[in-house]
Amino acid sequence: MSKPVNVWDYERLAEERLDANALAYFAGGAGDEVTLRDNVAAFERRKLRPRVLVDVRKVSTATTVLGTEIALPILIAPLALQRMAHEDGELATARAAAAAGTIMCLSTASTARPAEVAAAAPGSARWFQVYVFGDRGQTEALIAEAVDNGFSALMITADTPYLGRRERDLRVDFKIPEHLTVAGDIFGEGFDAGLSWRDLEWLAGYELPVVVKGILTAEDARLACEHGAAAVVVSNHGGRQLDGVPASLDALEEVVEAVDGRAEVLLDGGVRRGTDALKALALGARAVLIGRAMVWGLAAAGEQGVADVLRLLKQEVELGLALLGCASPADVTRAHVT
Ligand SMILES: Cc1cc2nc3c(=O)[nH]c(=O)nc-3n(C[C@H](O)[C@H](O)[C@H](O)COP(=O)(O)O)c2cc1C
Repeated sequence: MSKPVNVWDYERLAEERLDANALAYFAGGAGDEVTLRDNVAAFERRKLRPRVLVDVRKVSTATTVLGTEIALPILIAPLALQRMAHEDGELATARAAAAAGTIMCLSTASTARPAEVAAAAPGSARWFQVYVFGDRGQTEALIAEAVDNGFSALMITADTPYLGRRERDLRVDFKIPEHLTVAGDIFGEGFDAGLSWRDLEWLAGYELPVVVKGILTAEDARLACEHGAAAVVVSNHGGRQLDGVPASLDALEEVVEAVDGRAEVLLDGGVRRGTDALKALALGARAVLIGRAMVWGLAAAGEQGVADVLRLLKQEVELGLALLGCASPADVTRAHVT
């Protein structure tokens, strides 16, 4: 293939590079993968409403999330087992995110310890994603390591009392490659399926902003705010948990209305283009996160691949803003999308 020019090109490259075991894990969704497909289709259904004859000589893609400045409204979603995509794994992703001026959220199920990731990209902004295991001590040890190493927010994934049933994994008899060590083993240890809203108080005890990931309804958005969430992530886990739920983008407005400014609203699921980020911004998201778009870059070319995916997406956001008649993400309003 000639030089990749978009995320789809990176997806094709990744499909060529990855073995069947890894590809099933990274690409697959739950059940019939209706939600997985709909995450992408929802972006196609929405149409942008550009305003013309606006001075766009100077366009900035920069914004803030939870008070941290980021160079583009796109963060790196927590994604497990990144050394299965490339030997440098999470360290490569952390360096690429830092160089691009954005935040990486490290997964509990990462193949590099929080301390290693911090050392690989010192000075970068980083968040830690929390899965709560039945053995809470294991979770607490990981959070403590993240807190000690400058991770600045805790993102609790709320949609995973059990792992979804991912049939591509079943077909290849998915296994974590033996040479990899996982910080928090999501396949071995059971999750705490009794986790509830009250546990947000325990998490708040670490005195970092708490981000609740996996919100799809107004009801849960309100509960997250009432329990002190600094931000929520509208997410269906990339179509990997309950199949048949709405595309993230279709659930966004309901959540934005329910939150009513009390917390920041982020979104992930199906983001493959800068214009996807702009559609989410228009519907009220502060920023979006990318999972698979990042991992395709990582699989294709390690740190440089992730850097290039972020560079391409940033360019798409910048051009999209200009053609939309907006000088910055802050100028994007509800009127810019139907
Ligand atoms: C291979 C893979 C592994 C993931 N691992 C995690 C994880 O460890 N923790 C988590 O909260 N979400 C995890 N997610 C969900 C992502 O954080 C995110 O919600 C999803 O990838 C967004 O959809 P996208 O892949 O279309 O961008 C994972 C997603 C994928 C595809």
